[in-house]
Amino acid sequence: MFFSFLLLLPLALVLRRLFYHLRPTETYGGVQRPPFLPDWIPWVGVALSMAGGDSFFCNVQKKYGPCVRLTAMGDTRIFITSPALITYIYKNPKAFVFEYKRRSIQSLVFGMTHTVAFSQAMSDRLFPDHHRALQLVNIGELIQKYTTQLEELVLSKVDEADGAEVDLFEMVYEIIYTASAKAFFTPSFPARTTFKPFIAFDRAFPILNLARLPITMRSQAISAREKILTMLEEWWETTTELDRAAMAPAVCVQWEIAKDEGWSKRDWATVLLAETWALEANAPFAGLWTVIEVLRRPQVLASLRAEVSSTISKLDPPEISTLMHLSQPELITLLPLLNLALQETLRVHSSSFSIRVAEYDTTFPAAVCEGRELSVKKGEEIICVTRPGNIDTTGAWGTDAEIWDTERWIGDDADDEKGKARGPMFPFGGGSSMCEGRHFASAEILSFLAIFIATIDVQVVRDTIKADFTRIGLGVMQPKGELRVKMRRRQGESKVAA
Ligand code: HEM
Repeated sequence: MFFSFLLLLPLALVLRRLFYHLRPTETYGGVQRPPFLPDWIPWVGVALSMAGGDSFFCNVQKKYGPCVRLTAMGDTRIFITSPALITYIYKNPKAFVFEYKRRSIQSLVFGMTHTVAFSQAMSDRLFPDHHRALQLVNIGELIQKYTTQLEELVLSKVDEADGAEVDLFEMVYEIIYTASAKAFFTPSFPARTTFKPFIAFDRAFPILNLARLPITMRSQAISAREKILTMLEEWWETTTELDRAAMAPAVCVQWEIAKDEGWSKRDWATVLLAETWALEANAPFAGLWTVIEVLRRPQVLASLRAEVSSTISKLDPPEISTLMHLSQPELITLLPLLNLALQETLRVHSSSFSIRVAEYDTTFPAAVCEGRELSVKKGEEIICVTRPGNIDTTGAWGTDAEIWDTERWIGDDADDEKGKARGPMFPFGGGSSMCEGRHFASAEILSFLAIFIATIDVQVVRDTIKADFTRIGLGVMQPKGELRVKMRRRQGESKVAA
C-alpha cells in the first residue's frame, strides 16, 4: 500500500502541475486575475525557490510580469515587483490597508495577546503617538544620547582589540546594538545579557511570522521569544521612575498608553520587544554592509576618509566627537559621500516586503500593470517586493545594478557626463507603513560610519561574507560568513577626542 502510494505520488504531482498549466486564464468580475505561478509541492509552494536568491523574482517577473499569485508556506498571496505598481499600492491606503497586518505581527511574532493587539487603543493612540515620537523634531536628544554611547564604545572596543584579530561582524553589531538600546531604554538596559537572546529571537522571527505553520514546528521559535520577553519584563521591573522618564519619547508615549489601558506586564514586554526589534533588525546591518563594501574598495575608503577629515577640520573643536553630535540633516549635508555610500548599501542590500490587505474588490489599472488590468479580491494579501527593482540589470538602475558602486549617485542622471542610470527604491517601505525610524537610523548609521572611518585602521584577514537570502523580505539583508580583521586606532590625520 505504502509503496504504491510512493509510486503514485510523482504522477499525482505531475498531473497537478499540468492542471495549473492547462486551465484557462482566470477572471473575476470580467477582469483577468493575476497569473498563478505553478509549483510542485502543495502547501510549501515556491517557498524554497524564493529563499534561494535574487534569480527567483527576476525570472518570475520576466515570465509572468510584475504581478503574480503564488503559494508559499500555506498562504496564496499576490506578489508585485514593479516600482510603478508598488507606488500605486503605497498611494492607495484606503484600498490596500496595512493596519491589520501591523496588529497581527504584534500578536503573532511579538506575542501580544490578541485582544490588546486588536484593541482600539492601538489604532487611536499607540500607532499615531509612536509615529509622532520618532519624527525628526522629536529625536534630537535621543541622537545625542546614542552618539555619546557610541563614541565611548567604539574607542574602548578598538583599544581593547589593539591589533589583535577580531570578528568585525559581531563587534559592529554589538556596538550598535548596545549604543542604540541604551539610548532608547536608558543605560539601565541590560545590553550585554540580552544581546544573544535577542539574536536568537531575531533568527526565530521568520518562523514566528509563518501563521500557518503547525504550533509544534513553531515551539522552538516561541521559546526564543519567551526567553527575551521574560528578560525584558524582569529588567522593566528594576527600572526607577527616573529611568522611565528618561526613555526615548517613542517608549514613553507607549508606556503611558499601557498604564492607562492596564495592559499586563507581559503585553508591555511585547511592546518593548517590538521596539527593540525595529531598532536592531536593520540599522546595524546597514552599518555593517557599508563597512564591508568600503573595506573591499580602498579608493572609496580613501575618499570617505578625506571627506570625514576635511569636515572635522572645519568644526569647533575639530574633533570626531563634534561631528558625531551634529543633527541628522547636518550629517547628511556635511558628509554627502558617506551618505551616498549608505544609500548604495540600502539599494543593494535591502529586501523588504510591504504587506497590504485589499479592503474591497478592486483592479490594478493597466497603466501600472504592463498594459493589462488585473483584478484583486477583497481580503487578499498583497506583498510589495521591493528588491527586484533595485538590482534588476534590465531595469532602471542599469546593467551594473547588482554591483555596489557609489559612483552611480554622482552626477545628475544617465545623461550627465558622470551620472549613471538611477531608478526608484523603497528601502524604508512607503505609504502607510513607511519606516518611522528612518531619521534616527540615518543619523545612527552615519555617525557610526564617521567614527569608524576616522579613527580605525583595519587590516582584513579573512572576508567570506555573502548575503543570507533565507531571510527574504525582512529589511536589510543579513550577512553570512566571516569578516576577520586586525584593527587599531589610527594615528594622525583626524583629531580624536581622548
Ligand atoms: C537602515 C535601517 C532601517 C531600515 C532599512 C528600515 C526599514 C523599514 C521598512 C522597509 C519598514 C516598512 C515595512 C513595511 O512596509 O511593512 C519599516 C517599518 C518600521 N520601522 Fe524601520 N527600518 C530601519 C530602521 C528603523 C529604526 C532604527 C527604527 C526605530 C525604532 C525603525 C522603526 C520602524 C517602525 C516603527 C516601523 C513600522 C511602521 C509602521 O508599521 O507603520 N526602523 N522599517
